Amino acid sequence: MHDGSPLQDEAARAAHCALDVDGLGKRVALPSGDLTILQDVGFRIGHGDTVAIVGASGSGKSTLLSLLAGLDTPSAGRVLLDGAPISTLDEDGRARVRGEKVGFVFQSFQLLPSLTALENVMLPLELRGDRDVEAPAREVLQRVGLGERLGHYPRQLSGGEQQRVALARAFVTRPSLLFADEPTGNLDTATGQAIVDLLFALNADAGTTLVLVTHDDRLAARCARRLRIDSGRLVGDEALAA
Ligand SMILES: Nc1ncnc2c1ncn2[C@@H]1O[C@H](COP(=O)(O)OP(=O)(O)O)[C@@H](O)[C@H]1O
Ligand SMILES: [Mg+2]
Repeated sequence: MHDGSPLQDEAARAAHCALDVDGLGKRVALPSGDLTILQDVGFRIGHGDTVAIVGASGSGKSTLLSLLAGLDTPSAGRVLLDGAPISTLDEDGRARVRGEKVGFVFQSFQLLPSLTALENVMLPLELRGDRDVEAPAREVLQRVGLGERLGHYPRQLSGGEQQRVALARAFVTRPSLLFADEPTGNLDTATGQAIVDLLFALNADAGTTLVLVTHDDRLAARCARRLRIDSGRLVGDEALAA
């Protein structure tokens, strides 16, 4: 029951957020001394939102995305992902939340070279213990236009095709959140545009919350909101006209 206590108010608010980020910081120890990569970053993202994280190279965007997705742990602050305290869970706990809720697309595709397209897409389902893995993987590869390439290895595919496989792998688990770090960064303009169209189409079909890092203003402009990072701090939070 909700009795209106501050703690329950806070819990109720967090449960309505796809991401609830507070006081987030990341420091690393270097021989030359501590380096602060992120400092006191806070924001909330609602379910189904599309958000671009922008900023200069080296400003901390990829580090932030890794913390949001539970691929890395912060030095300060916290991240609630769909209400789950992903920043304070141990590696097993984070892996479980990621398997249930998170898809990730990288600039460099990150497919496993020794697995076929189909096997790459089946893998996240296998890792979380699903029994029915092949049919959903085939279906989503069909959806991204690679129904005829199921048995191809990554080296036998173009960059654009590899990123299509990566999109299929990210969406096959039906994640509630999809993170993408410069998803078009290694592709030529036309191929990148096709990948972006596909990403937004898959996202709209599934109602996924999308958080992407990009240098590309045209890609950022397709998101409903833009967060700007400068030297590890959140310096802008802008809603964009639809
Ligand atoms: N593990 C690490 N150790 C040392 N420095 C790091 C580490 N990770 C990131 N950095 C540094 O932190 C800064 C931000 O990196 P990153 O998040 O990759 O920025 P962006 O994605 O915005 O280009 C960069 O200066 C980078 O070199
Ligand atoms: Mg980066």
